[in-house]
Amino acid sequence: MKIPITKPYFGEEERALIQRPLETGWVVQGPYVKEFEDKFAAYTGASYTIATSSCTTALHLGLVALGVGPGDEVILPSFTWVATANVVEMQGAKPVFVDIDLDTFNIDPSQIEAAITPHTKVIVPVSLFGLSAPLPEVIKIARKHGLKVVEDDACATGAWINGVHAGTQADIGCFSFHPRKAITTGEGGMVVTCDEKIADSVRSLRDHGASMSDLARHQGPRSYLLPEFNMVGYNYRMTDIQGALGSAQIERLVWVLEQRRRLASRYDELLSELDWLQTPVIPEGYQHGYQSYVTLFSPQTPALENVEALNAARNQLMDNLANAGIATRPGTHAVHMLGFYRHKYGIKPEDLPHAYMADQLSMALPLYVGMTEAEQDYVIQHLTEAEVA
Ligand SMILES: Cc1ncc(COP(=O)(O)O)c(C=O)c1O
Repeated sequence: MKIPITKPYFGEEERALIQRPLETGWVVQGPYVKEFEDKFAAYTGASYTIATSSCTTALHLGLVALGVGPGDEVILPSFTWVATANVVEMQGAKPVFVDIDLDTFNIDPSQIEAAITPHTKVIVPVSLFGLSAPLPEVIKIARKHGLKVVEDDACATGAWINGVHAGTQADIGCFSFHPRKAITTGEGGMVVTCDEKIADSVRSLRDHGASMSDLARHQGPRSYLLPEFNMVGYNYRMTDIQGALGSAQIERLVWVLEQRRRLASRYDELLSELDWLQTPVIPEGYQHGYQSYVTLFSPQTPALENVEALNAARNQLMDNLANAGIATRPGTHAVHMLGFYRHKYGIKPEDLPHAYMADQLSMALPLYVGMTEAEQDYVIQHLTEAEVA
């Protein structure tokens, strides 16, 4: 049996809808991007939604819109995809890494205040793997210190805390529609905000700083006149082919999330006997979207003294699973341990011990819509029979 880590789900609706821009000839950002934005706003409850070419570009626009630049510091967890830190570097600002909670893999709010300096401008909590970061706590700290919050919600479509969707309480939330996410547009992202001024500036910044979109210009009077450009912007637009795909995908989002949650709870139940594997821990009031099902390999309580040996044992297990046709992956990486950041800031792995341990010991299991019980049982059987010292 060959079991991938994930695969996107497409049906007839997606195939039909992506033909439409090809038929009309309007393939750049246009009516289908708008339709997708409106549906994403309706699902999340955000007031303003602005589609982008990726979550990385969404995050970049978020920082630019808030005026982050040289001399500023941005607080973020180390255990995240490198893009969260790269966008800070792109603005000439300094990423300040904070450790995570090893149960949730998200930023540990009790460590944020110690990282705040007079240069801090923004906190970027990351809602990793589909579980919201502790957003109420993070937002409270930010407000106390007069800081802005840009959520990295790349994985967080379908992540809720007490009925509030990720991205809707902070200044800005940024989502990804990469194929490893719940719904996909190939590449793609979304900025959400409830602040009209931020929305206006992000909309303009994504389109070279234009005061009006191409679609609005073509639909309005004197469409031969180019718009005004009052700021320096980027081309971070989503195409209408992607917008059409997203618009079809979001129609099945609730069903997709149900499938993912059903598979996740089956893993929870059938792996609960394995005392060497920590399955996802969900705080009270949180609803997980299961962008990934990420476990922690922990035959012993992880500590700096045993993390190397445990890492070798986890890799051996991942090798054995790969030989049986089962794909697994580390959850993500600890950015402070990656070459560029290691060299530039001289941070040692053990300076952020939980991020280091998560980097070395996390293991995502296969999870995708359409995964059969037989496929899942095959994964569970190999885990149950694994010889873990
Ligand atoms: C936490 C996190 N942030 C940012 C990104 C970047 O998203 P994109 O690939 O859409 O640019 C990812 C992508 O996987 C991610 O997992």
